[in-house]
Amino acid sequence: MDKSIKGKVKSYYGGIAKNVSSNSKASCGCGAACCGDISDSSSIYTKEYLEGLPEEAVNASLGCANPIALAAFKKGETVLDLGSGGGIDAFISSKYVGEEGKVYGLDMTDEMLELANKNKKKMGVNNVEFIKGYIEDIPLDNETIDVITSNCVINLCEDKEAALREAYRVLKPGGRLAIADIVQLKEVTEDIRHSVEMWVGCIAGALDIDLYKEILHKVGFKEVEITPVNLYTKDIIDDIAKQKNLGDVYSQIDADLLDGAFAGAHVKAYK
Ligand SMILES: C[S@@+](CC[C@H](N)C(=O)[O-])C[C@H]1O[C@@H](n2cnc3c(N)ncnc32)[C@H](O)[C@@H]1O
Repeated sequence: MDKSIKGKVKSYYGGIAKNVSSNSKASCGCGAACCGDISDSSSIYTKEYLEGLPEEAVNASLGCANPIALAAFKKGETVLDLGSGGGIDAFISSKYVGEEGKVYGLDMTDEMLELANKNKKKMGVNNVEFIKGYIEDIPLDNETIDVITSNCVINLCEDKEAALREAYRVLKPGGRLAIADIVQLKEVTEDIRHSVEMWVGCIAGALDIDLYKEILHKVGFKEVEITPVNLYTKDIIDDIAKQKNLGDVYSQIDADLLDGAFAGAHVKAYK
């Protein structure tokens, strides 16, 4: 078994995809997106976003906020969703860009791609295509995309600069980034940072807002805005630990230090 962080992330999200395919709801993805009050997709997305989507796609939601709310799509635009999972954001985007537009969903996990393609068939959309690959090495040409969306995925990448540089490369000049991601708001201890389990749960890999902005500027983005929208309280993180069977890791961590240390955030920027 691949013991690297990427290998663990792949096997964890592959397992979730299999569970959803066997008719249950997605378990914990990026934490607060599936736990506590801001848990299910209906609290991340208001009703109009979810209209017309297959129930299975909605149930497979593993995000931490609504990136589509930032995207301001126009008909005919080309969209790329990084780490598309079961496809929820790709399907929502497909309604906004219309038949004359195109949406790519990129994911590295075979089981997620299979689930997304099943959901695509159920929805009967022609303008969505799921492709296999890594965010750090996007299999698309330079300057071909109008909008990049992503939901709780950059935090899972070990090389965030490579991922964001690739995003910049494929965007057309003037193109935009409309991302939901976990950010770190307070210092946390090294044991959290070094926990693979906490990484898979989107927390250990989350960037601090200033560093996130620095990387975005470094790879070329401008008009960068990062706004925390869903705060992870101690209770929510407690739920995450329970749902993910992280009892052992979590019991060694001072839960008070985690209270309010992370949040689901909106990340907006332009090329
Ligand atoms: C937390 S889930 C989010 C899925 C989806 N965006 C949503 O909101 O439901 C993370 C997804 O990103 C994918 N992923 C993580 N790291 C990746 C990488 N480096 N390259 C491609 N896909 C990746 C995983 O396979 C998984 O499907």
